[in-house]
Amino acid sequence: MANKLCNKVWRNGEFIDWDKATVHISAHVIHYASAVFEGIRAYDCGGQPGIFRLKDHIRRLVDSAKIYRMEVRWNVEEISAACVAAVKENAFKACYIRPIMYRDAGPMGVNPLKNPITLDIMTWDWGKYLGDEALEKGVDMQISSWSRNAPNTTPAQAKAAANYASGALIKMEAIANGYVEGLALDVNGILSEGSGENIFVVRDGRIVTPATGNSILRGITRDTIMKLCGELKIPVVEASVTREELYIADEVFAVGTAAEVTPIRSIDKIKIGIGARGPITERIQKSYLDLVQGRSEDKWGFITKV
Ligand SMILES: Cc1ncc(COP(=O)(O)O)c(C=O)c1O
Repeated sequence: MANKLCNKVWRNGEFIDWDKATVHISAHVIHYASAVFEGIRAYDCGGQPGIFRLKDHIRRLVDSAKIYRMEVRWNVEEISAACVAAVKENAFKACYIRPIMYRDAGPMGVNPLKNPITLDIMTWDWGKYLGDEALEKGVDMQISSWSRNAPNTTPAQAKAAANYASGALIKMEAIANGYVEGLALDVNGILSEGSGENIFVVRDGRIVTPATGNSILRGITRDTIMKLCGELKIPVVEASVTREELYIADEVFAVGTAAEVTPIRSIDKIKIGIGARGPITERIQKSYLDLVQGRSEDKWGFITKV
């Protein structure tokens, strides 16, 4: 039996015990990776859980389902309410929330259209995704030998399980080589993203981040960071980033719901800037953590209190 991460899993409108939250071997998703999902964080906002950008995550879940022609039986409000209920039911103060929608057991074969769709919501306690010291000291990454999927193959805008076959190849290669994470280029050799993070590159006080045409997931943290850069008056643009621009950057950092704002101190064993968290990364990281943990004003209404 799987390691118990929470007491109850929300499945299709009701809570079931952790041990009962299993999937049959004939389910379409097991054979063909036909699932779309989300990764959301609830932070301890002064003793009460606050879910960060819940509606935006659920909207992306519904968008991912639409791309894969999945008929969703719940709307954004209903799925959001179910996420709130899942945090409450499991009595978390802070946790990671994983709604996942998949093609379940039904006819065998590639055609998924007749397989029923199941929506599960799991919750668990997830600490620092890239290691305990990552946020402060930064991490070492490599450029992956695996490219991200080309446009018009498996769509990068959908947060689909199928995309994480590529993600796992990038991650495993990085770990085998002694790094925490790999950065992938797109099919044209231009920077795309990490296996679970978007990337920001700082030089001369200006920031560049790859655009959606570079096979990236349009990250919600990425969007938050761009908004915070506006507040902090740090210029940021979406543009192509070449491999060598990474090496000669003053600072590079990775962002994502799991990774938050993680400085990258070296790439391919080339020291980036001072080889530690740089000053711009530190300012952005602080304003991000203040926002998600409810320490600064929630001016965009991003936090849903549980
Ligand atoms: C491939 C990939 N890119 C980027 C991100 C960052 O997205 P977000 O900030 O919405 O968590 C993630 C994390 O979900 C991811 O898996």
